[in-house]
Amino acid sequence: MSAIEPPMAMLAEITHRCPLQCPYCSNPIELERSSKEMGTEDWRRAIREAADLGCMQVHFSGGEPTVRQDLELLIAEATAVGLYTNLITSGVLLDEPRLKRLVEAGLEHVQLSFQAAEAPDADRIGGFSGSQAKKLEAAAMVRAAGLPLTANFVVHRQNIAQIEAMLDLAVAIGAHRVEIANVQYYGWALKNRAALMPSHEQLDLMTEQVAAARDRLKGVTVIDYVIPDYYARRPKACMGGWGQRFLNISPTGNVLPCHAAESITGLEFDNVRQRSLADIWANSKAFNLYRGTDWMPDPCRSCDRREVDWGGCRCQAFAITGDAARTDPACEFSEDHGRLVDLAEHDSGEGRDDFVYRNFAAARRAPAGAG
Ligand code: SF4
Ligand code: FES
Repeated sequence: MSAIEPPMAMLAEITHRCPLQCPYCSNPIELERSSKEMGTEDWRRAIREAADLGCMQVHFSGGEPTVRQDLELLIAEATAVGLYTNLITSGVLLDEPRLKRLVEAGLEHVQLSFQAAEAPDADRIGGFSGSQAKKLEAAAMVRAAGLPLTANFVVHRQNIAQIEAMLDLAVAIGAHRVEIANVQYYGWALKNRAALMPSHEQLDLMTEQVAAARDRLKGVTVIDYVIPDYYARRPKACMGGWGQRFLNISPTGNVLPCHAAESITGLEFDNVRQRSLADIWANSKAFNLYRGTDWMPDPCRSCDRREVDWGGCRCQAFAITGDAARTDPACEFSEDHGRLVDLAEHDSGEGRDDFVYRNFAAARRAPAGAG
């Protein structure tokens, strides 16, 4: 394998606490309590180590990162060591004094998540009454502060009919970029797959609507669009390849090759409180297990796309087959592809609209790894 390049970006998942309860949450089944979260000084050291390692960006995420009162200190540390700072937030806890402090600390970009275009749906999906109104206020504050704004919409069967309204909303709030991302089904989202999976027809219509909007909104906003893997023929290059471009630090300090990597049971992760980030990036077993192409089974091993998509998504291979080392079933060359197609057709036709909401109480009741 060739020399290991430094990571481009670090996702700092500073907490799992969150006032919302999204049914497609990508955090692990077992949420970490605040008493287990890494403290300010350990986070600051990890941020410095990320910069030394060659990272260029840090994305502060969660849970809801603004529940941590030391977020300003972490942003200031990242700014001091030359990292570009992005805040990924639901926006429901932001007010002007807090945003001002974050901006003074050096915050450069905000990514605001939306559950739907219309308030009743947004509040129902996120399990938080009044969330949409607060998000709109947060968006206005971010723009008034002069920060660039990205609007994230997570799309599924229960909001897919609002695509055009979502794009209109993004333009109305002055978003420079819109992410239309279909739910990825691992971790908690697996529990709600039958309530979330769109039909093939819905997906085709959305794809047309997004393509038309891209033309219409050229020069106004940029649209990123991620289709659901279950209807793809080739997988995405998840994380830009395992252990190649990104690293993620969990609230307790575990260093992960991907935000959902803890959904792969049996993998062990090193902790930044015990080993340096540079050592973990280069030498940790979890990072090296699926890095590059040496680990690949056929059909990936002999495929000319193996250095394009890196065999797809390890978390999805595990979620569907129980083996993270298999070819991503989203690939039509995978032996497991037919199962993915059958699951999508079955779940999209279920007609369910009830959610298992994501919160600490529900996480306690759920067996680890249950899908
Ligand atoms: Fe990608 Fe493997 Fe499918 Fe080839 S066989 S397209 S490398 S997932
Ligand atoms: Fe973990 Fe794709 S989400 S590798």
